[in-house]
Amino acid sequence: MPVPVPPGYDLTDPDIYANAVPLAEYAWLRRSAPVFWNAQTVEESSFDDGGLWVVSRHADVKAISCARSGWSSEENTAIVKFDGKTVGYQERHIQKGMLLNMDEPRHTRVRGVVSRGVFTPRGVARIEGMLQEMATQIVLSARDKGTGDFVDDIACELPLQAIAELVGFPQEDRRKIFDWSNEMMAYDDPDFDVDPAQAAAEILGYAAEMGEDRKRNPREDIVTRLVAAADEEVVSSEEFAFFVLLLAVAGNETTRNAISHGMQAFFDNPEQWERYKAERPSTTADEVVRWGTPVQMFQRTATEDTEVGGQAIAAGQRVGLLYGSANYDETVFDEPNRFDIFRDPNPHVGFGGGGVHFCPGSHLAKLEIDLMFNAIADNIPDIAPAGPQRRLRSGWLNGIKEMPVAYR
Ligand code: HEM
Repeated sequence: MPVPVPPGYDLTDPDIYANAVPLAEYAWLRRSAPVFWNAQTVEESSFDDGGLWVVSRHADVKAISCARSGWSSEENTAIVKFDGKTVGYQERHIQKGMLLNMDEPRHTRVRGVVSRGVFTPRGVARIEGMLQEMATQIVLSARDKGTGDFVDDIACELPLQAIAELVGFPQEDRRKIFDWSNEMMAYDDPDFDVDPAQAAAEILGYAAEMGEDRKRNPREDIVTRLVAAADEEVVSSEEFAFFVLLLAVAGNETTRNAISHGMQAFFDNPEQWERYKAERPSTTADEVVRWGTPVQMFQRTATEDTEVGGQAIAAGQRVGLLYGSANYDETVFDEPNRFDIFRDPNPHVGFGGGGVHFCPGSHLAKLEIDLMFNAIADNIPDIAPAGPQRRLRSGWLNGIKEMPVAYR
């Protein structure tokens, strides 16, 4: 049942998502206020423009994502809210070094280099065997423990290892890169007593040094291809460092949360788990991403006066793309509140609404989700919940921090 959203409701309030995704409120927005004015204070968001428009319908999210002009990811970044205390104005400049927050022509150039160098089907195929072995190992280690925290034991390791394999980080450095990655994303959550800006600086320093080293001493590896290929366009060491920083954010927590949400969805829909174990449909990963929508919202800034759904938007105003709502849009998805691993077609916008920023890691993420659930179904088919989960406190990530389970 849709629940009315009062004026002043802040869809970027981390306390909302710490409790649950407000699906009933989203349903009301789609029906009654599809372009909603979402007020924000500068203290809460670090934006001093009073707030942003939020679009909740699938069609509007797609139209803005795919528009060839009129919208910027760079002007205010794609992130809808920064914690004014720890990740304020200065860190917003750091954000602008990342592909996610670039506009053309810089975006086109950097995306071209990393697409050719990192996100090729061959690059992902190269690491598939290794990831499959790791997925099995992760599940077998968890099984030995009997009970534990699904997030810590199972969901978190493969996404980190996948990025490390993809870029080619040395084994001995992986643990510290993993720790920095985890520390960077926790800026809204009081449970994590860490300094995200410091962790980001550590990753940047480490990766820039790696880039410089490959320029001096080229090797047969991906980093060399990105920063020092003789006959191709390359990125600077600094751009490489920001790319690594983005991977640590974009490819890590998102995939981890997708895996955790998928497991929870199977716990809540045991008949789907039975069918998964028997049939292993290739449509599963997309439904897991639709269902969990790890990134609930990103934003664009209008670069000219425009109109969305009859609402005038002035140049310079921000518009939030509420993926979490678009993925439950009843005009696009039959029975959107049903978790259905056979859903096909499944035009969800969990990886973005299309267009030039569409997630280049989507194939890798879906591979990881498939490998993990296959390994779970093969080795711990009777896995069961063993206590309430604890959710992440974030203004735009749908995250699970802890999920007690019995591996049986
Ligand atoms: C379930 C897991 C994932 C989800 C839900 C997710 C979601 C997203 C979304 C919503 C965007 C922005 C799209 C837009 O602005 O239009 C994005 C961009 C991006 N993602 Fe992912 N992602 C996931 C996994 C990954 C992985 C595994 C990697 C890499 C290893 C990755 C790398 C990136 C990068 C580099 C961008 C920026 C692309 C650009 O701006 O051109 N993501 N992702």
